[in-house]
Amino acid sequence: MSEVIRDYNEFARWLSARGLKSLFVVCGNSFANIAPGRFLDCLAAVGFKITYFKDFTPNPDHSSVVKGIEAFKESGADTIIGAGGGSAMDVAKAIKLEGEFKASFAAIPTTAGTGSEATRFAVIYDNGTKTSLTSDLMLPDVVLIDPSVLEGLPDYQKKATLSDAVCHAVESAWSAATCEESREFSYSALDKIFANYKAYLEGDDKTFGIMMDAAFEAGEAINITKTTGGHALCYKLTTKYGLAHGHAALLCVNALWDFMDGKTDNLKFLEDYRAQFKEYFEHLGLAKPEIAEADYDVLADSVNLDRLSNNPVALTHEDIVDIYHNL
Ligand SMILES: [Fe+2]
Repeated sequence: MSEVIRDYNEFARWLSARGLKSLFVVCGNSFANIAPGRFLDCLAAVGFKITYFKDFTPNPDHSSVVKGIEAFKESGADTIIGAGGGSAMDVAKAIKLEGEFKASFAAIPTTAGTGSEATRFAVIYDNGTKTSLTSDLMLPDVVLIDPSVLEGLPDYQKKATLSDAVCHAVESAWSAATCEESREFSYSALDKIFANYKAYLEGDDKTFGIMMDAAFEAGEAINITKTTGGHALCYKLTTKYGLAHGHAALLCVNALWDFMDGKTDNLKFLEDYRAQFKEYFEHLGLAKPEIAEADYDVLADSVNLDRLSNNPVALTHEDIVDIYHNL
């Protein structure tokens, strides 16, 4: 499990204690404008060498990883930092893994949702085809959490990223690999989110730290169990209809939950959360995509079978078409 640090001075001490002074930072363009970005600028002023790598897109392509590996070698850095939501973190992880770099690895989440800072997974696209990487080598050594990054996060981003965390917690709890340890993480995350999401969406900054912690815990849950049918069904909705990942996942998990009702014992692990989930789903009111009749088969054919093997109910092609119909 990664070490979690919530204080900038402590993070600087963490680096210094290990003799680390050259940081390779994978981040988006807006990172410079938020507190952890300004903090790294301060580190540069006191002698750290900072190299930024921003040459990637959402749903990052493998070519970005290749460029990043070259850029890292050129930088001579001793530390890789993934700073961002899912994409920056995924690219940083893939650079570390595929470059076989022994560098230290730090994560700085800038949303509350992906939980990527807590997992050994990364998603990279190879000419549009999704590939999932899994390795303990991609687990961060340290995670720097500053809830102030959530200030000014657009409403849709907040809803989508938080929903990603909800889906991680729910899917982990009902997954074929569910266990007591993973469910503790799931329940703790769901309790935090369902008690605070309304205040969070209204901008109450007292909830920011709670939501960062919930997302981290939901990440810990899937780090143990992996995700299930909800995530398997959601990927094509993001690429085909432009829905944010967490938005698509929430629609799929909601429809999948209804579909699995009465078909598996594992839903008993979530009995206490069914009503709260429904209320959350209604409250967010995220739109459903307009799917043309001919596209249901295309969608169902796109589903990642590896993730489906972790679903508590086996799903046929017809079942998946059915679930997409009921989003
Ligand atoms: Fe996710």
